[in-house]
Amino acid sequence: MWNRAPPGPPTRGDKSHLPGALREDRGRPTSVIAIVGAQFGDEAKGKITDYLAAQARYVVRSGGGPNAGHSIHLTDGQAVLHQLSVGVLRRETVGISGPGMVINPLQLEEEIRDLKSRHLLKGEIMISERAHAILPLHSLEDRWEEGVRAKVSPATAVGTTGRGIGPAYADRYGRWGIRFAELVRPHLLAQRLDLLYATKAHLADLPAKSELLAELSASAGRLASYVRATEPVLWGAIARGESILIEGAQSALLDVDYGTYPYVTSSHPTSVGALLGTGIPPQELDEVIGVAKAYATRVGAGPFPTEVGGEMGEYLQREGKERGATTGRPRRCGWLDMVLLRYAARLNGFSALAITKADVLGGLEEIPVAVAYDTPGGERLTDYPPALAEDLEKVRPVYRNFPAWPEFTERLKERVRREGVHALPAELRGLLAFITAETGIPVEWLSYGPMRDETLWLGRGGTAPAHGGLPPWSP
Ligand code: IMO
Ligand code: MG
Repeated sequence: MWNRAPPGPPTRGDKSHLPGALREDRGRPTSVIAIVGAQFGDEAKGKITDYLAAQARYVVRSGGGPNAGHSIHLTDGQAVLHQLSVGVLRRETVGISGPGMVINPLQLEEEIRDLKSRHLLKGEIMISERAHAILPLHSLEDRWEEGVRAKVSPATAVGTTGRGIGPAYADRYGRWGIRFAELVRPHLLAQRLDLLYATKAHLADLPAKSELLAELSASAGRLASYVRATEPVLWGAIARGESILIEGAQSALLDVDYGTYPYVTSSHPTSVGALLGTGIPPQELDEVIGVAKAYATRVGAGPFPTEVGGEMGEYLQREGKERGATTGRPRRCGWLDMVLLRYAARLNGFSALAITKADVLGGLEEIPVAVAYDTPGGERLTDYPPALAEDLEKVRPVYRNFPAWPEFTERLKERVRREGVHALPAELRGLLAFITAETGIPVEWLSYGPMRDETLWLGRGGTAPAHGGLPPWSP
């Protein structure tokens, strides 16, 4: 059963934390929620997932692999999860690495070992037998592919995380990929490895097949107890009305079909991908929560219309601690982009938004937000970015400046914790109301610091009345 109120004491006068307050209109409480990144990744999806996971029985990752880095700040240390769902950090919760994922078994073992040694592994782990294995040769191939692109034209390098994501998904669709189902069956593994090696003649320095087979078999043996059919587990949970949270990795603008192709990842980090990657049927999906920062970041190459350089860019990078949780690369920083947010809202069918890292902008003079793009051809775009990366590179954002809110001092944070939405600076409430009005999607959660308790539920409908979906679309 979902309960929208924070896991801590409910805010004053608010009764909607009572079980069943949610989705009264559908005659049953919300049980399946998908968390989807609304920008270019790193929106603090992990933090929002962890916040809601307090009420979930199952948390399931639907796609991607070790390219994701979901940081959770706990009182007893920081956990960065790459291939495990954040559900594993909570007692009574099952964290599933779902069918849509590509998982490096050797790195997975390391991640499990690390969490165990720090006593952070509290929930149960399940790994889908349909997830595909990333092998060391995939990282080699990832680098080889980037080399090919750079050689033809430096501008075409994607700036991948180098974790073998693209090649592993390519092999999946090539139908010579190795799934965990095969990985845990030694005789099948040898056979599949023969086939896979036969497709990699272009790669130099491949590890000896026999050594890799031995290494993988040993790893598979240690992981075998986690590997199982996970869809029936989730279907059973749905039948019993238990809460399921789908943890998205990567984000809408990195979707292989709907993102800024070719500067994208090789999976589907959209709400549809959340279903595809878990085996949950569409009519069971009750809510899609989009997560966006109050500004924007991007790691790797590709168009980023609202990017800011210079001192301001460095300021955002420093204040927001914008450094990749997976690769340690500094993230490119920029302003909130309403054209992309409206697009992501329409594409994913967000039912609510969570806005994160509001504290980072506190104390600035003003906050620019892109409300439209002007194209070199004289067109004004408001809710659909050009499909060509080359065209998106050339748009000029039209900014509206918002008054900034004061710095999020400890004192202000304490007041927000105690008094809730009433303690939020009026300037910040103004921006949230603007986002709601412009997207038609209520901003229901606000994150104002990295810690677990620095997330606030703003109430059903957010800070401003929603007007029932997006404004009419005029192509
Ligand atoms: P989370 O889940 C930010 C980016 C890479 C690169 C492109 C393709 O933490 O939001 P890939 O290795 O996937 O083939 O790289 O996608 N990218 C991410 N950027 N956060 C992520 O995950 C990302 N996963 C991939 O930087 O530009
Ligand atoms: Mg990340």
